[in-house]
Amino acid sequence: MAQLNKQRILLIIGGGIAAYKCLELIRRLRDHGASVRCVMTRAAQQFVTPLSVGALSNERVLTDLFDLDDEREIGHIRLSRDADLIVVAPATADLLAKMAGGHAADLATAVLMATDKAILVAPAMNPLMWSHAATRRNVALLQADGIHFVGPNAGEMAERGEAGVGRMAEPAEILAAIAAQLAGRVIAGALAGRRVLVTAGPTHEPIDPVRYIVNRSSGKQGYAIAAAAAALGADVTLVSGPVGLADPSGVRVVRVETAAQMLAATTAALPADLAIFAAAVADWRVANAADEKIKKGAKAPLPKLDLVENPDILKTIAHLPPSQRPSLVIGFAAETENVIEHARKKRKSKGCDWIVANDVSPETGIMGGNRNTVHIVTADGVEDWPEMDKDKVAEALVARAAAHLAATTGKA
Ligand code: C5P
Repeated sequence: MAQLNKQRILLIIGGGIAAYKCLELIRRLRDHGASVRCVMTRAAQQFVTPLSVGALSNERVLTDLFDLDDEREIGHIRLSRDADLIVVAPATADLLAKMAGGHAADLATAVLMATDKAILVAPAMNPLMWSHAATRRNVALLQADGIHFVGPNAGEMAERGEAGVGRMAEPAEILAAIAAQLAGRVIAGALAGRRVLVTAGPTHEPIDPVRYIVNRSSGKQGYAIAAAAAALGADVTLVSGPVGLADPSGVRVVRVETAAQMLAATTAALPADLAIFAAAVADWRVANAADEKIKKGAKAPLPKLDLVENPDILKTIAHLPPSQRPSLVIGFAAETENVIEHARKKRKSKGCDWIVANDVSPETGIMGGNRNTVHIVTADGVEDWPEMDKDKVAEALVARAAAHLAATTGKA
């Protein structure tokens, strides 16, 4: 995860049994090149020792607001100033309540008050505490304050026989949430001078003048990507199938109906530095589409549709010679089973650089909904991003792509 390299994480460890998972989190963060400075609450020290946290983080662990040495040498204001992101894990019901209430009586809460940095919390508590009206209120307040959450998950609690929502997110999930947070930070103008091409929405393949074949697609994710790229200063062309969405501001929108038209409009929009294919293109079109409405009736035979395969737009663009191919080509894989395995194969078969994979089984509510849980499959491996609004997925993806372009192509 390139976005973790050289990032400074201030990890505030709360007092819960899940505190032991922080040791693994610290190790993984450091493996990815991040530095980790830890603050432990008094309760946290009942679950893991500052010695083990210090050994893994390779930094002095801070525990006390009134340790004068710390105040002189580091100080709680400096702690925040030196950090790129503050992570609270495990965030207990008590710590969330203190954060929501603006308490600052110990080092952990004082740091959380005296910061303007982004804060990500990983709650962990008994399911009854998580569902308690007081915690619901506190979480709502914190979300309104712009605090980001990862988890908690449903599952077995440390207490025997207890199950429900309250289990802290696994270290890998917290790591992904941290990476997404860091990638999602909008770097103004990060795509200035870049040309970005996005496809979105479904295509309509006519059967006759009134009927067509279509894939389910709201177009929301693709439109959010185009808007996010424009917000970073890119010159964006959005080739869109028929959707009920307003044009994103600052984006050139080319409206098409069929896959053939989408391919033509996409090719016409080249050259591009970055191309993101979020459209749900119909795989087939009707070769014998009728010019007049096909009549139904007792005497008329059932119509027979001859299907022919549509051009694969992503594959076509990804296989262009290097002089015409966008530097970074990103496809989507909407799957309902074996998401990662299919996405890995798709990345190779399509010839694209990254695949954004998601599980679109009806129970996920992703299709047509506003939230999305994606996995970024690259040549280096798979990043599991936490569930986010489609707007946030778009911002994180585009920021990640901007950083990649800056690192791999000469232009800043
Ligand atoms: O093969 P499948 O439809 O699952 O692949 C999904 C990816 O390929 C998406 O990025 C989609 O936009 C792109 N695609 C395309 N043209 C097609 C079919 C899919 O660009 N005809």
